[in-house]
Amino acid sequence: MAETQDLFSDPAPAPSGQATIEIEALRARLNLWAHQYYVQDAPSVPDAEYDRAFQALQALEAAHPDLVTPDSPTQRVIGAVMEGLTPVRHQVPMLSIRTETDTEASGAETFDARVRRELKLAPDAPPVEYVAEPKFDGLAMSLRYENGRLVQAATRGDGEVGEDVTHNIRTIRQIPLTLPTGGESGVPPVLEVRGEVYMRRADFDRLNERQREAGGKTFVNPRNAAAGAVRQLDSGIAAQRPLSFFAYGLGDITPVAEGGPDFATHYAMLQQLKTWGFPVAAQVRTAQGATELVAFHQEVGASRDQLPYDIDGVVYKVNSLALQRQLGFVTREPRWAVAHKYPAQEMVTRVEGIDVQVGRTGKLTPVARLAPVFVGGVTVTNATLHNLFEIRKKGVRVGDQVIVRRAGDVIPEVVGTVPAALAPVAGALQGSDALADAAAADAARHVPRSPYVPNFRMPRHCPICGSAVVREKGEANHRCTGGLFCPAQRKEAILHFAARRAMDVEGLGEKLVDQLVDGNVIRTLPDLYRLGLTALAALDRMAEKSAQNVIAALEKSKQTTLPRFLFGLGIRHVGEATAKDLARHFGGLDAIMAASVEQLLEVNDVGPIVAEAIHTFFAQPHNREVVEQLRACGLTWQEGPPAERATLPLAGLTVVITGTLPTLSRDEAKDLLEAAGAKVAGSVSKKTHYVVAGAEAGSKLTKAQDLGVPVLDEDGLRTLLDQGPAGLGGAG
Ligand code: IVH
Repeated sequence: MAETQDLFSDPAPAPSGQATIEIEALRARLNLWAHQYYVQDAPSVPDAEYDRAFQALQALEAAHPDLVTPDSPTQRVIGAVMEGLTPVRHQVPMLSIRTETDTEASGAETFDARVRRELKLAPDAPPVEYVAEPKFDGLAMSLRYENGRLVQAATRGDGEVGEDVTHNIRTIRQIPLTLPTGGESGVPPVLEVRGEVYMRRADFDRLNERQREAGGKTFVNPRNAAAGAVRQLDSGIAAQRPLSFFAYGLGDITPVAEGGPDFATHYAMLQQLKTWGFPVAAQVRTAQGATELVAFHQEVGASRDQLPYDIDGVVYKVNSLALQRQLGFVTREPRWAVAHKYPAQEMVTRVEGIDVQVGRTGKLTPVARLAPVFVGGVTVTNATLHNLFEIRKKGVRVGDQVIVRRAGDVIPEVVGTVPAALAPVAGALQGSDALADAAAADAARHVPRSPYVPNFRMPRHCPICGSAVVREKGEANHRCTGGLFCPAQRKEAILHFAARRAMDVEGLGEKLVDQLVDGNVIRTLPDLYRLGLTALAALDRMAEKSAQNVIAALEKSKQTTLPRFLFGLGIRHVGEATAKDLARHFGGLDAIMAASVEQLLEVNDVGPIVAEAIHTFFAQPHNREVVEQLRACGLTWQEGPPAERATLPLAGLTVVITGTLPTLSRDEAKDLLEAAGAKVAGSVSKKTHYVVAGAEAGSKLTKAQDLGVPVLDEDGLRTLLDQGPAGLGGAG
């Protein structure tokens, strides 16, 4: 496609007419790609390609400001801060749906019976056809398109008057800014699409994780996060809160008499919205009568945890639009639709205590012990409080009424406190009278929190192993320093020690380590080297031959290198590169173990946090003990005087390896380069001296070529190793 080339060429000199064509072409392409990516979940081009076209469009628009239109893909993220949100009167009111709180099958049967009664259907008349949809837990949105362009997005508000949030809605990639007009497409001059703006659970978790790390405010649930984002005055903030959209209905539309589309059914309308580019949930389907509604309710309910977003129920709608008209409305609710709920994913209960758990990586997590509560379909007795700062921010103390959330397969968490006096109200708001009663009774019994209930504190010593607990500067989490000694971290420590880049014990994988630790066969790293063939072969599914192989691999691993051994100890912040630097700098293990923080700081690339971590590690008597025992088991490596990095032949060079080399593995090439003093980096930049590329090298090779970084094959690499840069003609 020669034409593609042109689109990315230097835009500045293009005359206005030519620019218009190029701009239109770029926009069409970007809109298509964005639709494939965000709506169809099927990207058709790499991100870099998208970015390139996007930048080309930005450049063209910068050169021709008069050609910038509000629906251009470049205008999705606008940083303008609004004064306040403007009220919008809906041309067609935004209704709500009657809720069926009976979460059992009978809820669907009651609705179907009512519809049949109101339509005056005989008992033997065929089943009514419905459309069954998930009830998305977000906020309702009305999107108004005029002549195929998004001109306004408004919240529901009170149903009559909502708020103009167009600037934020434009940042949602799943919402088309323009629709296909003219010809066969049939988009009417006026089209209001109604649907739900929501946040996917994974996006929500990432957002909260980011907020938590930055010490910012966390959001209670995806719905709140979405609602907050939509009502931002600053669309730059909204753009950082990843939102999604599902269409489920229509508002104002050009009448049939004036050429508007004539849909016979709700389902046909949804299909049309889909072809116009709107996301419609995959679960939506037609259902005949109560039996199929019940089946839908059960099926979606069973897969609720696996859905990527929160739902609080399903919605049933009479499919025929003629029948919908016949049924009409009561007050603000249509008779032809009902929301059939599921058990709530948030509930109120009481904190009975706060325990501390130690994770596989040593992180200490405070966990609330709760009065048992049924939430998200299971009885929950524990919920995470994440870390000390979250507890402080939420003000949680033992005895408090708290909101517990369990959605999806995620661990239940405490999202906030409820003042004791409000607990019954909270219960009622969740739509459960029983809960409200229980909460009221609880509140009546509840002695108001004494001002003397102490604030929760993190233990100074690990509750599992007694090692010192630390929290690094700028970190929210407390950690146990027990490392390889702490039983909670045992499995992780052993797996790390045995890993390929560490001691490289082949055959010692997760399943085997689970068996060894759970069966109390080994407790510490040195126990590994005391394993006998009989003990190993006695394990489940362990053939004598494989047991022999593991013993042999352990034996072989005893001959190692100091960097591998150091890395294998799993000292926090000590990766392979730091382990190598330490070994080179100090020459031997004893010197490292004896080093002060100041001495550690002299090592290349070692900063205060890393130095502190190394020092603390070797200050723990049990860690020193483990090291001594490992040496006693026969682990050996070469030690020598500290090597001067600058005297190595490739010192100061940065090399990137990509693709598959003919004879050397990537690790081997890396080891060779590092032994010669070069630094092996993961990504190509202007500072890269050489890129070593093998078969199937991808973007790194392209980048090297773009930047003019010399590219070597394996032969070139060998020349570099043997003769230095001079052997290649002096570059670098
Ligand atoms: S239809 C006339 N369909 O639930 C019916 N609403 O109280 C108009 N909702 O405000 C709404 N999923 O925010 C409809 N599949 C769905 C829905 C849905 C969620 C929300 C919507 C509305 C509320 C109804």
